[in-house]
Amino acid sequence: MKKILIIGGGAMGSAFAIPCIDNNHKVFITEPYSQRFIKNLSSKNKFHSALKINLPKRLKFKKYSNELFYEKYDLIVIALSLTGIDFITKELKKFKVKSPILLLTKGLKYEKQNKKILTISQTLLKSVPRLNLSVLKGPCLAKELARKCQTSVIIANKNIKIAKLLGKMISTKYYLIEYSKDVVGVEICSAIKNIYSMIIGSGLSLNKSSSLFQKSLLEMKYITKRLNGKEDTVLSLSGIGDLYVSAAGGRNSKMGNYLGQGFTFQRAKKKFMANDTVEGEQLVREIAPFILKKFNSKKIPLMFQVIRSILKNKKLLI
Ligand SMILES: NC(=O)c1ccc[n+]([C@@H]2O[C@H](COP(=O)([O-])OP(=O)(O)OC[C@H]3O[C@@H](n4cnc5c(N)ncnc54)[C@H](O)[C@@H]3O)[C@@H](O)[C@H]2O)c1
Repeated sequence: MKKILIIGGGAMGSAFAIPCIDNNHKVFITEPYSQRFIKNLSSKNKFHSALKINLPKRLKFKKYSNELFYEKYDLIVIALSLTGIDFITKELKKFKVKSPILLLTKGLKYEKQNKKILTISQTLLKSVPRLNLSVLKGPCLAKELARKCQTSVIIANKNIKIAKLLGKMISTKYYLIEYSKDVVGVEICSAIKNIYSMIIGSGLSLNKSSSLFQKSLLEMKYITKRLNGKEDTVLSLSGIGDLYVSAAGGRNSKMGNYLGQGFTFQRAKKKFMANDTVEGEQLVREIAPFILKKFNSKKIPLMFQVIRSILKNKKLLI
């Protein structure tokens, strides 16, 4: 029995607890930010408002505090959204955490000072160099994992032995784990698929979306290679696998659908998705200054179109 701490009680953090509990580990979850999730997780029946299920009674809620980091865990899981990464970076730096960490957050960061794109693991390691850090990505709708639907994901670490140890700890009959050494590639793919699923969603018909799917893959390959990931990783669960699930349903492809219908981004957001986070939009705003400066629009025309439609609020021309 291992001791696991999950930081982030949103949909993904809470769903991730389920295979861990099925493997008989002692699982704790903490929520540093959202009152809604604190209320869910500390309630008696543990009804999770995003997952729409009662979480297992054996999942223990811990109030977020500094004390948490004085305990030893066999694994700490970070399941915060991109906006929580600056916060957790500061926390990990303060407490010199030694436990292995598994990062579920998807996204990229633009470092203005050095004009560089960093993955989330690079961002964390820059501030806290000695972290024992692995990343887990792939096509995983939290609601499906929480209902134990078969889900396959990928753990990446340059040291594949560490990745496999973690995989052994968390895999179940329904939660299947693959492995990669290409940490950077896995993180890039799992982030930019949010932008490309918007593009595929704009197709409006299966025929057009399929052709956009194929062109998206070519652009993903180009970007992944330029940012020092491996081209082949685009064909892994973190690339094409995650692109499929995001394009088939989800908030990014829904926004893409409105853009395809001719709405401008701002109008579609206000009219149909005012309370939804569109991760692809957040990522565009983060990486656009770098992409516009360092990439040639002829090599990645779809990406340039989405950037234009979000930053300049122009109609998508695809
Ligand atoms: N690796 C995977 O298999 C996988 C699968 C699905 C989603 N994800 C990723 O996991 C992350 C979380 O997704 P989710 O569906 O649980 O989202 P969610 O909105 O349900 O939960 C977001 C979590 O981040 C926290 N948070 C938000 N802003 C914060 C801030 N400023 N400071 C501190 N904490 C903050 C929230 O309180 C909550 O715990 C996303 O990056 C998502 O892309 C990973």
